[in-house]
Amino acid sequence: MCGIVGYIGKKQAAPILLDGLSKLEYRGYDSAGMAVYDGKQIHMSKATGRLKVLSEITHEGATLPGFVGIGHTRWATHGAPTDSNAHPHFNETETIAVVHNGIIENYLKLKKKLIERGYEFHSETDTEVLAHLLDLYYKGDPLQAITKVMHRVEGSYALGIIFADHPDVIYAVRKDSPLIVGKSEEGNLIASDVPAVLKYTRDVYFIENEEIARLSEQDIEFFNVDGEPVEKEAKRIEWDIHAAEKGGYEHFMLKEMNEQPKTVRDTINPRIKDGQIVIEELGMSDEEIRAIRKIHIVACGSAYHTGFTAKYVLEGLARVPVEVDLASEFRYRNPILEEGELVIIISQSGETADSLAALRMAKERGCQTLGIVNVVGSSIAREADQVMYTWAGPEIAVATTKAYSAQLVAQYLLAIKFAQVRGEIGETQVAELLRDLKKLPDQIEMLLSHKERIQKYANRYLASKDVFFIGRGIDYAISMEGSLKLKEISYIHSEAYAAGELKHGTISLIEEGTPVIAVATQDDLFKKTLSNIVEVQTRGAFVMAVTNAGNTEIEKTAEYVIYIPQTNPYFTNSLAIIPLQLFSYYVAVGKGCDVDKPRNLAKSVTVE
Ligand code: M6R
Repeated sequence: MCGIVGYIGKKQAAPILLDGLSKLEYRGYDSAGMAVYDGKQIHMSKATGRLKVLSEITHEGATLPGFVGIGHTRWATHGAPTDSNAHPHFNETETIAVVHNGIIENYLKLKKKLIERGYEFHSETDTEVLAHLLDLYYKGDPLQAITKVMHRVEGSYALGIIFADHPDVIYAVRKDSPLIVGKSEEGNLIASDVPAVLKYTRDVYFIENEEIARLSEQDIEFFNVDGEPVEKEAKRIEWDIHAAEKGGYEHFMLKEMNEQPKTVRDTINPRIKDGQIVIEELGMSDEEIRAIRKIHIVACGSAYHTGFTAKYVLEGLARVPVEVDLASEFRYRNPILEEGELVIIISQSGETADSLAALRMAKERGCQTLGIVNVVGSSIAREADQVMYTWAGPEIAVATTKAYSAQLVAQYLLAIKFAQVRGEIGETQVAELLRDLKKLPDQIEMLLSHKERIQKYANRYLASKDVFFIGRGIDYAISMEGSLKLKEISYIHSEAYAAGELKHGTISLIEEGTPVIAVATQDDLFKKTLSNIVEVQTRGAFVMAVTNAGNTEIEKTAEYVIYIPQTNPYFTNSLAIIPLQLFSYYVAVGKGCDVDKPRNLAKSVTVE
């Protein structure tokens, strides 16, 4: 996720910007840049790659002299990681410079209008529209221009803005992306996160949604979206720098789990326009979608589990046959791949060796390929015929949570789109599905708010040696991910079983006290799964269940029940996985495991 820093004060700005940006490196980035006002005009430097490169080309900031400036580390979303796409972005006369974190959802529409008015674009970013839009509205009063822009743009943004005509102030603006203001004796600062300012101050203002901050060397003022003054109080930060990097959370995994409502929203919202799913990056005409004869989903680990879920959704809604494969198996099993088949490769990192090899094989065999990828400009994103990005931002914890959630909803969108185009569902069903889809972020938020209860329960599992996860259909897919989460971070052996398969062998392992986690969110399979729960419970299993609100019958058999809110049966994975992630997290914390960096694991598996 991009990082923003701004400074105005008595000291040279550029070294402070570089230092602040270095404290935001944990957020992940692929390029960096700074803009500093030198007393006459704004000068800018940008560089692809590490911050070290920007520091070297600016001689540690010396080539950008001045006391007011903004800096940025970019995590690419719109456009590859290049110097021209790096922030800041200028208006045409280079008198307004902007840095941005977030996604401007209506940027294409705005860009078209600005081009019609004669504006020239020099990057592929959504951010550049902001610089030109500010230029369009600027009539001498920056605050007025900013509020007008806020009324025009849709999406999420944290902005740092400087105007050459008003070099004694910096503006900071926020909607759905984080931004704070630091108040210090030596000058004032803006930043995406507290660590960037802790060296200078512990007195911080948290800018709320749709608020604007105006900072001068001495003063800090706040305004609402209509330009009216807002009163705010600074808060004293007591965290140490290490905790501050994680936004006050104990681990990146916990922070990332809590980011899931936003991640899901960011992946869904830009792709729903006027009640229709618009996946511009799919690059397939309706005719091509109708012509798909089979879909292969290929991935590794958790990404594979999302594909396993998507098989049910795509086959159920779009009635197109789907095969799901582990990339490491697919690439060596000489699969039958024919013309008219679509191969979807799912990967957070976009660099997983087996997934990349599977993609290359599919291309060699003449299949159309689509990457569902989180890291912009990664190998899979570059090499797939089409790429649909999951806008989860950088994921730092090795155990995936928010990227997993984004991959799921990206595939729900595909399934609904394909079903509609192929004539399998009508307008009413599309509207119902989209209504449920849009509710997911709030429902996830609600489930996350119950973490204390899950923590209490998780503490009973610290001494467990083996845990079994069971479920049918999509619930089996959820079980696979729940089981992987538990084993990878807590080192407790666990297995996921299709509940109906237990009696064909595995049930012999159930004895007095064996922990079983049963997932039963599919209404049509509820009774069947309930029988399997009874089977294990009567053999001594200690059962925890995850089911839909209202299924209270399960309480007769399960020791502990977690209810998820009502949603479409195809979407239950997005909800049921939240308590299972929390459960694994708290078991691992309780056992004193290194949650963010589990032993023997790497975030990106770039070797076979
Ligand atoms: O970057 P990718 O999505 O391709 O990675 C795939 C797997 O390595 C990954 O999901 C792995 O299973 C995670 N550790 C699960 O938490």
